[in-house]
Amino acid sequence: LTQERCAVQRLPFSTVSEEDLAAFECIIPGRVTTDPEELEAHNVDWLRTHRGCSKVLLRPRTSQEVSHILRHCYKRNLAVNPQGGNTGMVGGSVPVFDEIILSTALMNQVVSFNSVSGILVCQAGCVLEELSRYVEEQDFIMPLDLGAKGSCHIGGNVATNAGGLRFLRYGSLHGTVLGLEVVLANGTILNCLTSLRKDNTGYDLKQLFIGSEGTLGIITAVSILCPPKPKSVNVAFLGCPGFAEVLQTFSTSKGMLGEILSAFEFMDAECMQLVGRYLHLACPVQESPFYVLIETSGSDAGHDADKLGGFLEHLLGSGLVTDGTLATDQKKIKMLWALRERITEALSLDGCVYKYDLSLPVERLYDLVTTLRAHLGPCAKHVVGYGHLGDGNLHLNVTAEAFSTSLLAALEPHVYKWTVDQQGSVSAEHGVGFKKRDVLGFSKPPEALQLMCQLKTLLDPRGILNPYKTLPSRA
Ligand code: FAD
Ligand code: MLT
Ligand code: ZN
Repeated sequence: LTQERCAVQRLPFSTVSEEDLAAFECIIPGRVTTDPEELEAHNVDWLRTHRGCSKVLLRPRTSQEVSHILRHCYKRNLAVNPQGGNTGMVGGSVPVFDEIILSTALMNQVVSFNSVSGILVCQAGCVLEELSRYVEEQDFIMPLDLGAKGSCHIGGNVATNAGGLRFLRYGSLHGTVLGLEVVLANGTILNCLTSLRKDNTGYDLKQLFIGSEGTLGIITAVSILCPPKPKSVNVAFLGCPGFAEVLQTFSTSKGMLGEILSAFEFMDAECMQLVGRYLHLACPVQESPFYVLIETSGSDAGHDADKLGGFLEHLLGSGLVTDGTLATDQKKIKMLWALRERITEALSLDGCVYKYDLSLPVERLYDLVTTLRAHLGPCAKHVVGYGHLGDGNLHLNVTAEAFSTSLLAALEPHVYKWTVDQQGSVSAEHGVGFKKRDVLGFSKPPEALQLMCQLKTLLDPRGILNPYKTLPSRA
């Protein structure tokens, strides 16, 4: 639990009074929850490693309501924890103490979709998978996809600058998000919800909120550019004899598949064992030390099949790959993606998970997994590596029966120091939240941390938005 593991002191915010509850009830009648049972799911994070003790959950429907709520909280010095789908991996989505939880769950309306430009404007609480379905009906796709799609909100995705499975093709949300509406700590509504591809009218303020994890403002609406739905999608799931072969397969895929390559993911043999054991997903190829999932997306099925066929023939012929299977129909494509997407779920069923999300030079991506496995020995149940290899993003996860300070001491700061020695990043895509705020210094110079704190003070002078998160505790 949060308070047990990390000595953190509650800051001198006010506590919610009967008058506050009455004021909230006036702003959002019938959408103020104080029932402890209902609050339970909102107080605990997805990984079940962080628990807050908020007594109030607010569910506004409009930006105006969010503005009124924040104006009240600002005046009363009440701390607020913005929450989307609560799928975050770094303890940022749940309160540390008794912060008010402001959920975007009822802000789930599409505002507009332009079927010529592909620009979608929607409220922050729309669930990613529902948006995907909505735009797919009009022959477009969302520029991002992730395993948590069924629960995460687009506002949460933007707030964490989520990477995910389509990053290789469509890039970061810093590029695909065209506009945002944000409510600032004092209740001001900042309308930067433009739908323009190009707009150089001074500072691009929306960028500040992408990846700000609820510490600078509450994102209430998003304008995002959706790519056309590819006419032909194929997925190859391949077994590789070693990590050197995985790397060569990656280089070869860029050369031979070129513009149709849309994802390159990898997982090791231990990941496959875990999804088999806990989720009963069968390995579709011969057992191998490594597996890669390669997706192609294009506009001409014949052309893509020819390219992919030549590529797979080359891989098998050269021994880079020992076995493989190809999916062209939706059902099998989904089945192959599940093997990769559901690793997180399988790991959470294996016990206590120590999660690391690192950006590394691709050639060194797996070195840390190998050395840690040898170094930790039986202290760990599993040491696994998987992730977005095409983006240089390793998910290193270690599981154990229970939390242990000695295992933590064997992992940290070693993992972070090693990452910095490779000029990597200690948080590639999950963000900082509560869990990583004191390791930020490994990846950012003091001058950058100071500027971050100054920006926080400028936008949220009382520090009521997601306190104890993202910024270093000793700042
Ligand atoms: P929450 O978890 O509710 O919140 C996350 C953070 O954003 C918190 O700090 C919160 O305060 C803040 N926040 C939420 N909504 C708002 C808002 N409207 N305004 C301001 N701040 C807000 N991440 C990746 O990057 N890539 C992946 O591939 C990936 N896969 C995942 C797979 C699984 C199975 C799971 C469980 C998680 C995965 N994640 C991944 C983690 C990822 O960060 C989240 O899934 C997602 O982006 C968070 O969205 P959410 O709506 O659940 O936000
Ligand atoms: C993933 O890529 O599966 C997610 O980022 C979640 C995780 O790291 O487990
Ligand atoms: Zn990921």
